[in-house]
Amino acid sequence: MKVCVIGTGYVGLVTAACLAEVGHHVIGMDDDAGKVQTLKAGGLPIYEPYLEEMVHRTVVAGRLTFTADVAEAVREAAAIFICVNTPPLPDGGADLSYVELATRRIAEHATCRTLIIEKSTVPVQTGAWIEKTLAVYGKRPDGEFDVASNPEFTREGRAVEDFLHPDRIVVGVSNARAEQTLRELYRPIVDGRFCCPIHSDCRQDRAVPFLVTDIRSAELIKHASNSFLALKISFANALADICERAGGDILQVTHGMGLDKRIGRSFLQAGIGFGGSCFPKDVKAFVKIAEQSGYDFALLKEVDRLNEQRREWAVARLKQVLWILRGKRIALFGLAFKPDTDDVRQAPALHIARRLLDEGAVVQGYDPQAATKAGQALPALTLCPDPYAAAAQAEAVVLCTEWPMFRGLDWPRVKAAMLRPLLLDGRNALDRDQLTALGFEYLGVGR
Ligand SMILES: NC(=O)c1ccc[n+]([C@@H]2O[C@H](COP(=O)([O-])OP(=O)(O)OC[C@H]3O[C@@H](n4cnc5c(N)ncnc54)[C@H](O)[C@@H]3O)[C@@H](O)[C@H]2O)c1
Repeated sequence: MKVCVIGTGYVGLVTAACLAEVGHHVIGMDDDAGKVQTLKAGGLPIYEPYLEEMVHRTVVAGRLTFTADVAEAVREAAAIFICVNTPPLPDGGADLSYVELATRRIAEHATCRTLIIEKSTVPVQTGAWIEKTLAVYGKRPDGEFDVASNPEFTREGRAVEDFLHPDRIVVGVSNARAEQTLRELYRPIVDGRFCCPIHSDCRQDRAVPFLVTDIRSAELIKHASNSFLALKISFANALADICERAGGDILQVTHGMGLDKRIGRSFLQAGIGFGGSCFPKDVKAFVKIAEQSGYDFALLKEVDRLNEQRREWAVARLKQVLWILRGKRIALFGLAFKPDTDDVRQAPALHIARRLLDEGAVVQGYDPQAATKAGQALPALTLCPDPYAAAAQAEAVVLCTEWPMFRGLDWPRVKAAMLRPLLLDGRNALDRDQLTALGFEYLGVGR
């Protein structure tokens, strides 16, 4: 099928490459001419495991191309994915101006019957606004556009794997034609009929649940899912605070809880809080959506508040131990909002770095993938080429992102480089006993 993907960021590029990988002909379009130029030249504007090889392979095979020209992109597409950003407005609501602009351009340039699929995370009822926009600005006679919602559930750092092996595919449609197009698009993935580029022994005998709903329900499923996962994290963080006050070890508590299949183990990790371009904004947007429909989502407001507190917790903990921060060197291990990505949007590490800089500390950061983006976002941060350089003369190391490489560091070397061997493990990811035995003053979360 001929597919167009508008927006070639974290979601759009993965969508484009994966759909090309399973056999469709895809054109990726972006307003950012620099991004398109990088892609055309064989480079990648983002880091995501397996993505570079896949983009290269599908470009060479002639199934994936890129353009900054919207008319060229949408002209012949049978399906058009909108994957543009939906950043937060000052009041917490989602800024849908990029979605509207993409829709207007589709209306102006589409030359054949096409299905417009919202993949960006959008508030409930956005599909209806897209339909209205197409009707107002469309040059084609009525009925030439179908609209569907197909929320994206991939995790950054695992996006390719999640796209090709999803837990479920949700499509919100208003007619059978739209459903049929989406079934055709996803058939190779649902039936496991593609050559998996990740696992050589891939088990493809498990059909992927393909859930068809109305458009509004699909839109709600996305915000509800992210908000629920955020709620689990904030719940674990509240428990960590109780453990610290009442005595108890959060790792033992959440392990005991997670063994209950009704609760599950995932997203119960206490730490310095969630970040990224999705959870913080989606929680706030869902609060706003609820408010606009007349419901006070107090539960979710508290999830957000607890999360904001976590970064302050880290700074307060350092102050408790170091007393004065001014003039002291503090090393941050990990700057990305989570491992396996170079994304620093709403990264807890950067928030902590900003606060420490405000206090007059010298902040030395290291990240295996996100250093460039972190430097652009926070030029006052001193970027180091490796963790040992970051630890040099530091009076504390804060583990902000649980990259697996940090577990395997030469910790005696880290200690030797530091002025004071204080270690704040903001993700409870390191071996407390081993590090204590090495002479570190180890501080965990909720332990
Ligand atoms: N990042 C994730 O892992 C993830 C996961 C699920 C859902 N989402 C949602 O997907 C959407 C996209 O997120 P992202 O992280 O990929 O954003 P992003 O900022 O990485 O990419 C968005 C891209 O869209 C381009 N763009 C904006 N307006 C455009 C227009 N009118 N025409 C052409 N290109 C345009 C931008 O230049 C940018 O390259 C958001 O709504 C986000 O909430 C993201």
